[in-house]
Amino acid sequence: MFNPVLKWAGGKRTLLPDIINLFPADYKERTYHEPFIGGGAVFFKIKPKTGSINDINSRLMNFYRVVKDTPQELISKANKYSYDEKSYYKLRDRFDQPNISTVEKASLLLYLNKTAFNGLYRVNSKGKFNVPFGRYPDNIQILNADNLRNVSECLKNVEITTEDFEESVKDAKEGDFVYFDPPYIPLTDTANFTDYTSKGFGIKEQERLAKVFRELDERGCYVMGSNSDVPKIAELYEGFETKKVHARRFISSDPNGRDGVLESLIINY
Ligand SMILES: C[S@@+](CC[C@H](N)C(=O)[O-])C[C@H]1O[C@@H](n2cnc3c(N)ncnc32)[C@H](O)[C@@H]1O
Repeated sequence: MFNPVLKWAGGKRTLLPDIINLFPADYKERTYHEPFIGGGAVFFKIKPKTGSINDINSRLMNFYRVVKDTPQELISKANKYSYDEKSYYKLRDRFDQPNISTVEKASLLLYLNKTAFNGLYRVNSKGKFNVPFGRYPDNIQILNADNLRNVSECLKNVEITTEDFEESVKDAKEGDFVYFDPPYIPLTDTANFTDYTSKGFGIKEQERLAKVFRELDERGCYVMGSNSDVPKIAELYEGFETKKVHARRFISSDPNGRDGVLESLIINY
């Protein structure tokens, strides 16, 4: 048993059983591709033998590459960091330096992920990491070396890329299994949803993703996607089966205390 190493926005932990239940029964025999890997909750749960992981975030993918290739160097480096406010801001500045090594970049991402406020990853318009110091118990664990070695082992036969999702699946073969967990269509304000959302993943990207989904379907791949339960998704994936599942996400603005919102899981098999 091991866990994802990083906490990432949109983490799928609560939805895991629903998602994996809907995977093709023989998914373990198939080559697996996850083009929006983020924190990798699904990937590290199923531990595919072969396949690829991808994300457009280059710091994130550098992290997975270092974990895969040189876990011990990462562990040694990260073990030297201390958890206090002064060190945090010093290391946060260091993270934005252009010429630091890949191992240092990865260990700083790990450190910031554990010690930043809410474990958020957020950058300003210039790409500078700008999350403030987070207050956690003094004995906070920045690194679990055993877990990290297991994660490294799990990535051994997995290709790691840093591309746009479309590019990352161009070599997916007939019979391969692809799971897309993109930035979701916002639940509110869908009418004004344009190409220019803060995440840079607007309606044009959602349409392009649906097109790639169809192309993979025609190629004979097994494909699953997750997204919000909004009419636009039903429209984009018309003709494919869509299951609705409870996301069990706490919504603070909901006075009735509903225990979650629905999400859509789209499959082609
Ligand atoms: C919802 S998150 C994935 C959550 C993840 N599966 C997990 O369990 O934590 C979406 C990810 O898509 C990435 N992303 C955004 N635009 C992208 C693009 N055009 N191509 C590939 N990845 C992209 C973001 O960097 C982010 O990590």
